[in-house]
Amino acid sequence: MLPMEPNRRRQLLRALEIEAWVRPRAKSELELASMAQQAAAPVMAAPLAPPADAPQDTVMARPPKSKPAAAPQALLVNDAPEVAPYVAPRDWAGLAAAVAGCERCKLCRTRTNTVFGVGPQNAPLLVVGEGPGADEDAQGEPFVGRAGKLLDEMLKAIGRSRNDNTFIANVVKCRPPGNRDPEPDEVAACRPYLDRQIEILQPKLILALGRIAAQRLLATDEPLSKLRGPVFEYGSSKTPVLITYHPAYLLRSPGEKAKSWVDLKRVHRFLDAKG
Ligand code: URA
Ligand code: SF4
Repeated sequence: MLPMEPNRRRQLLRALEIEAWVRPRAKSELELASMAQQAAAPVMAAPLAPPADAPQDTVMARPPKSKPAAAPQALLVNDAPEVAPYVAPRDWAGLAAAVAGCERCKLCRTRTNTVFGVGPQNAPLLVVGEGPGADEDAQGEPFVGRAGKLLDEMLKAIGRSRNDNTFIANVVKCRPPGNRDPEPDEVAACRPYLDRQIEILQPKLILALGRIAAQRLLATDEPLSKLRGPVFEYGSSKTPVLITYHPAYLLRSPGEKAKSWVDLKRVHRFLDAKG
């Protein structure tokens, strides 16, 4: 193709309304930049900012590439916006505040209270459930209903409680409506909070309760029968993870309590060995 006269080229681009997204070549960079400034429509989308209610120390790890405001569809192929990963606050109070005001997934629309978790920050054991139920949603604390009472008894049997040596949290901090399972996108949206909790708490062991918590935590589809027993590792910290039944399941199937006792003894031995 013959090189085009700059004015002609500009006219053509304007006619096609494509000046905004045409990458200037090195030679005509200044020229096109001033064209962009003159264009009536906004040219570049504003860089993605943290949500207005995000805590001050929330940072976006990578600003996304600016992209054209209203480019023709066909020309957006291979120009998918890059979504910056959310970086949760690094301090406990900031993290708790971020969760309290979180709107990162649709569960925020139906919750009454967020449920951050409960227990001391130096707890060697972190218990992870699936998500708040009706009682937890009402009170803002995990495992306070019938299943929670059973969990407290199970923990007590191995010398543990939320008051001194066990932290209790869930894979999602807001109640899934109607007690449905948390959906993968909700778990993914909430994951930075749990990950930061684990990073700050540095538990010696994570005990996941039930199939959903276990599968979501370990990103697997394996049935609970395969997940009970082995010690898994979580994240880059390689925190050991054990899996047992959910206390709500044990309330429905009391015959399985004997097997959960086997798991609890394993938890006890593991933590004992770790000092
Ligand atoms: N079930 C859970 O998985 N978590 C709670 O907090 C309560 C019930
Ligand atoms: Fe935010 Fe988690 Fe609640 Fe979703 S479930 S709104 S990600 S705190």
